[in-house]
Amino acid sequence: MPSTSSTWRAFAASLVIVFAVGLASCKSKPTEEQVAPPAEPPVEKVELPPAPAEFPQMRIPEDNPQTADKIALGHQLFFDARLSVDGSRSCYSCHQNEHGNGGETPLAVGAKEKQLTRHSPVIWNTAYFGAFYWDGRAGSLEAQAKGAWGGGNMGVGKENLAAKAAELAKIKGYKKQFKKVFPDEGVTPDTIAKAISAYERTLVCNDTAYDRYAKGDDSALTDQQKQGWALFMGKGQCAACHAPPLFSSAMGVPGGLYYNAGIGTAGKAEDQVDVGRSKISEQDADWAAFKVPSLRNVSKSAPYFHDGSVATLAEAVKIMATGGIDNKNKTALLADRRLSEGELGALVAFLGALECGGKLEQPELPK
Ligand code: HEC
Ligand code: HEC
Repeated sequence: MPSTSSTWRAFAASLVIVFAVGLASCKSKPTEEQVAPPAEPPVEKVELPPAPAEFPQMRIPEDNPQTADKIALGHQLFFDARLSVDGSRSCYSCHQNEHGNGGETPLAVGAKEKQLTRHSPVIWNTAYFGAFYWDGRAGSLEAQAKGAWGGGNMGVGKENLAAKAAELAKIKGYKKQFKKVFPDEGVTPDTIAKAISAYERTLVCNDTAYDRYAKGDDSALTDQQKQGWALFMGKGQCAACHAPPLFSSAMGVPGGLYYNAGIGTAGKAEDQVDVGRSKISEQDADWAAFKVPSLRNVSKSAPYFHDGSVATLAEAVKIMATGGIDNKNKTALLADRRLSEGELGALVAFLGALECGGKLEQPELPK
């Protein structure tokens, strides 16, 4: 949608100027009762940027078309801890409703209580990404699912996936469903990954207050959220990387989009830092750069960032709006936007308008 995106980009640029002029001349506006000054400063009336509503087309791999039976099967597999090496972890264990469908602990803890090195990301709209994981090392959802299943998350080991699939094939309910959905292949690591991915492609969050606002319901956002929206697009320059309506510009970009915001670099020797994307790309320019996460459901998904190092949304927003954390490779796209406490609060309030209405439902598991 080049026209929409160039419209808001132009708007974002002009808004910076509007803000600069507006700030120079702003006085608190008269309220109805002029008796005493209001306790809270009145919310600035600002020109509001156009809000895109239309999602791009989701890319579905040709060899894994969506069918209702496959999605239902993938739903069960996503919730089934019998996939893990010790029966302790399902995919859902680390992507729970209570935590915005991200993780609870700063760093994820895998099967056999293995301490992992990163925070579990929110998985709403994940199928729109062109690369998966914080460093984009998986090129498809199917590859990601096998990675999580064979790797530390579920602890099965890549070399043992076929044996695990054979174990699952002994469960009558699965055997029957796989026969129907994958008549030629049956239960294999590939068909398991395909079914899980088909289910993940149904995890679309497009029903937030923001979406209702973008479709024309002016009452869907509070005045404070509208102020936050204008700051997000304008003075805060957030949309440079978190472009609406997906709120991650990395979505739809084949290899992903990575920036160094300095998260996880403070007070560490260089060889102690999680180097993120550069381990995959082998480019110095990607040192400690991570994928731009979507901000949908972010108000529910504390703690924040790839290392879960920040406990509150207010703190995460403040870090981003003040230019990230200095280090040898910090992106030039982050700078101190000189926002007031009230403006930072408005940004946080706006992010609350990205709360997803949907919920992952626990399915009945086959016996
Ligand atoms: C022990 C916790 C844990 C379990 C179990 C787990 N995950 Fe995750 N998941 C994570 C973590 C941590 C990451 C990020 C890892 C990284 O970037 O290196 C992640 C990343 C992802 C992503 C990528 C999202 C993005 O924005 O790139 C998807 C999709 C995902 N998981 C789905 C699954 C599926 C499917 C399963 C089951 C096969 C699963 N997860 C099991 C913790 C877990
Ligand atoms: C240069 C691109 C860029 C800009 C501009 C940007 N961000 Fe981000 N944002 C990122 C990246 C990359 C991460 C992940 C960093 C990490 O974990 O190492 C991130 C993470 C976040 C997170 C944490 C999300 C989560 O799930 O953990 C929040 C909240 C956030 N940004 C809000 C904002 C706000 C608000 C602004 C504007 C003031 C902004 N960002 C501007 C790239 C950007």
